[in-house]
Amino acid sequence: MKKTLALILALAMALALVACGGNSAPAATEAPKAEAPAAEAPAAEAPAAENTGSGKTVGIAMPTQSSERWIKDGANMKSQLEAKGYNVILQYGEDDVQAQVSQIENMIAQQVDVLVIAAIDSGALTGVEAQAKAAGIPIIAYDRLLMDTDAVSYYASFDNEGVGRAIGEYIEKAKDLANTTETYTVEFFMGSPDDNNAVLLYNGLMKVLQPYLDKGTLVCKSGMTTFEQTCILRWSQEEAQKRCENYLAGFYADEDLDICATAFDGFAYGCRSALEGAGYTKDNWPLITGQDAELMASKNIVSGVQTMSIYKDTRLLAEKCVTMVDAVLNGTEPEINDTTTYDNHVLVVPSYLCTPVAVDQSNYEEILIGGGYYTAEQLAG
Ligand code: GAL
Repeated sequence: MKKTLALILALAMALALVACGGNSAPAATEAPKAEAPAAEAPAAEAPAAENTGSGKTVGIAMPTQSSERWIKDGANMKSQLEAKGYNVILQYGEDDVQAQVSQIENMIAQQVDVLVIAAIDSGALTGVEAQAKAAGIPIIAYDRLLMDTDAVSYYASFDNEGVGRAIGEYIEKAKDLANTTETYTVEFFMGSPDDNNAVLLYNGLMKVLQPYLDKGTLVCKSGMTTFEQTCILRWSQEEAQKRCENYLAGFYADEDLDICATAFDGFAYGCRSALEGAGYTKDNWPLITGQDAELMASKNIVSGVQTMSIYKDTRLLAEKCVTMVDAVLNGTEPEINDTTTYDNHVLVVPSYLCTPVAVDQSNYEEILIGGGYYTAEQLAG
């Protein structure tokens, strides 16, 4: 049954490639280099692990290598799984939904034992998820929930609403919003509408900041405050830069922008470029938030061009995900700490949520360097 299905799939894929000129999806068998450059993103030291993998194969579908965090995620997963005796197929879809579908189809055709997926578009994989289920291959959702499917067994992530709350609380505290008589201008740069994390983050952020918008302590001069108005497809840095440029040109000719409330380090980089282009200097540089504590963002925090980021330890996330891989393959129980929040419209997916931590100039040494995530040399350069 598995073999027949694999054959059908392989045939279907070959046909699809011919039909579209054979050029769109990167050849799914060609594993892209997943290794993070050693100096930039050291893979976590794999803990001495018992051999639970015993030659089984894990197919990992990651969204993109354009952002450093996913390179670290992939490298951590690979090293931790290999330390347990698993074989790993690791592929990146480079933000091309169709390419990710093809990669997953190919992993199914190769009869992987389990799939770990960080989706590009969380709702676009239902077909291929059903194929995996039919082939008896369990699926684990990695950091981004897989929507509209009953084929997902577990979800490993961070508390995504908590990320938004932490960003909001950081702004609230930094500007003393509860007590100040000043007003501060703010613009919002939120995540991709096809990523369930993005709306949760927005909700968490607005739980903290909406009262200050209502009171007038925070003023959003563009008027763009809803999720629909502020979300940015595929978490595009370029689009964030463009939006920021437009806001600055359209609404901030006479008054400075004080706060860029962004949901992702990539957006913070985009805002930085826009602000530099508009002539902002360290005298009127705004508070800029981010998420992921990427290496570049962390360096920007040290130098002061980004104010904070949310540290999501990808080593820890990988570790939790690996326990889920063990669980689905060996019948053990993984650690779960949430069974109510992550409803994907078909089922509530049992989840493990790691705790996000805000990092800024005051604690990066303790958290990022002390925690072994980056070395002092990496952050100094
Ligand atoms: C989200 C994730 C963020 C960030 C973003 C862009 O799914 O929660 O931490 O990485 O993707 O890659």
